[in-house]
Amino acid sequence: MITHLLSAADLDAATATQVLDTAREMAGLADREVKKLPTLRGRTVVNLFYEDSTRTRTSFEVAAKRLSADVINFSAKGSSVSKGESLKDTALTLQAMGADAVVIRHMASGAPHRLARWIDGSVINAGDGTHEHPTQALLDAYTMRSRLGRLAGLQVVIVGDVLHSRVARSNVHLLHTLGAKVTLVAPPTLLPVGVGSWPAAVSYDLDSALSDADVVMMLRVQRERLAGGSVTARDTFFPSDREYSRRYGLDDARLRRMPAHAIVMHPGPMNRGVEITAEVADSTRSTIVEQVGNGVSVRMAVLYLMLGGL
Ligand code: CP
Repeated sequence: MITHLLSAADLDAATATQVLDTAREMAGLADREVKKLPTLRGRTVVNLFYEDSTRTRTSFEVAAKRLSADVINFSAKGSSVSKGESLKDTALTLQAMGADAVVIRHMASGAPHRLARWIDGSVINAGDGTHEHPTQALLDAYTMRSRLGRLAGLQVVIVGDVLHSRVARSNVHLLHTLGAKVTLVAPPTLLPVGVGSWPAAVSYDLDSALSDADVVMMLRVQRERLAGGSVTARDTFFPSDREYSRRYGLDDARLRRMPAHAIVMHPGPMNRGVEITAEVADSTRSTIVEQVGNGVSVRMAVLYLMLGGL
């Protein structure tokens, strides 16, 4: 197993499959009365979050506790970061308290890579800027495999704000490694420069991509990253929420045009009524809540394999 998990591109097919297989074993624990393993007793996991999170932070906490690790939850809000303390000094302080692994979310792309050079323990990227979110890609792959039985050959359509999406980038890397075919669908303004070199097809037309899809993964329109979120700046990416929904939103009519077996995914948090309607988000075809539950099993697997010395 790797020392750090900074990018989904760091995972070869064998390692990624080992994580998914281990996560399946971990999922069995959720059905037991005592949902704990002693594996990481005496080890310390630090959740170092500089950016808001609901799913990732709590699922890493649950995962570490289910493996009997001690958990320190550090949020930049309310810490000495507000007094100007740097990431390096914060990290060295936490290391001095005996951190064996640091799970970091940061608004700056590349922050986890810097951290990995400063501290002795393992670093896990829980989302850095617009760069990567590898454990999200792992839990998404786990969800696809458990719903559809395989990953190789699956047609995965990823739709929306690819420009700002660390989830899209990590999914493209991981799904390519595991043999799935990815198509990115977005307005030209929400595709990054150089997307043509990614191992994925690119389309501007959602309707034409739906009929062959096994998976349709909707991305959140990242209002906070659209040039500071001002309405005027947002207008430079697309004319209005209504226009965006009309061209790139997943509604009931589009859901009915997908193959009967195809699933709908979203990493959360969602903008209901913008990239996805409430009816689709809450439909039986949606795996959105299931993804959150799978996130605990996948993060248990990552911690177990990285810290358990396996
Ligand atoms: N999917 C995801 O990263 O959600 P949070 O921002 O709530 O962690």
